[in-house]
Amino acid sequence: MSLTVSPASQTLTQGDSTATIAVQQVNHYFGKGDLRKQVLFDLNLRLDKGEVVIMTGPSGSGKTTLLTLIGGLRSLQSGSLRFLGQELLDANGAQLRWVRRQVGYIFQAHNLHNSLTALQNVVMGLEVQGGLPVAVMAERAQQALADVGLGDRGHSYPSQLSGGQKQRVAIARALVSHPALVLADEPTAALDSKSGREVVTIMQTLAREQGCTILLVTHDNRILDVADRIVSMEDGRFL
Ligand SMILES: Nc1ncnc2c1ncn2[C@@H]1O[C@H](COP(=O)(O)OP(=O)(O)O)[C@@H](O)[C@H]1O
Ligand SMILES: [Mg+2]
Repeated sequence: MSLTVSPASQTLTQGDSTATIAVQQVNHYFGKGDLRKQVLFDLNLRLDKGEVVIMTGPSGSGKTTLLTLIGGLRSLQSGSLRFLGQELLDANGAQLRWVRRQVGYIFQAHNLHNSLTALQNVVMGLEVQGGLPVAVMAERAQQALADVGLGDRGHSYPSQLSGGQKQRVAIARALVSHPALVLADEPTAALDSKSGREVVTIMQTLAREQGCTILLVTHDNRILDVADRIVSMEDGRFL
């Protein structure tokens, strides 16, 4: 089976093993009864392994809602969403936890723990995986910090780092476990243009090295060139 989807997407083919993510005919609603409101409409989107895709669109158009569905943070209500071939419609708790372990999240605010050092924050990105000896986690976290240019800041607390540095720690934490997919929701929104560019360039470079797929939501026109493909959402639909 194959079906043609919106120009923003590509043709979806069932059983295609190269897709990291295949979203088909996804609708989503918030609220109940009279307050029930549809926020996503018949979405189709495919992300291939290693692709860097930017999603743009006005505030309130549904970008974060779609990101949380893809990352297994919210339950799919209808349609189909396959994550590395695993269907998320009617997925159970264990399946959703499996999805979350394959995803590195980077948010607008860095979401670091202020009481932990940069190195300890990055180690947290490995603890969710479980089963690694402490020394191995510390070594990998140190390498991840070095990869984002902060090899000498492992003992610094977030309050001692600039906004761009904090966001680079967040990238190290997201990528230290070598996730299949990175979901970044307006990661440069709180940064000046130079730091913003550095942050996305680092994300792009690391993703290329690790072969991971990136879906990045942004309003920032200055970073669109890092994308292999740009999709635009408006009022819950891809343009
Ligand atoms: N938890 C929620 N409960 C009810 N409505 C929500 C919730 N989250 C988002 N919405 C609504 O869904 C729509 C899409 O929101 P969102 O996905 O956050 O858009 P974007 O990320 O593009 O700004 C908006 O109308 C928003 O008000
Ligand atoms: Mg949002």
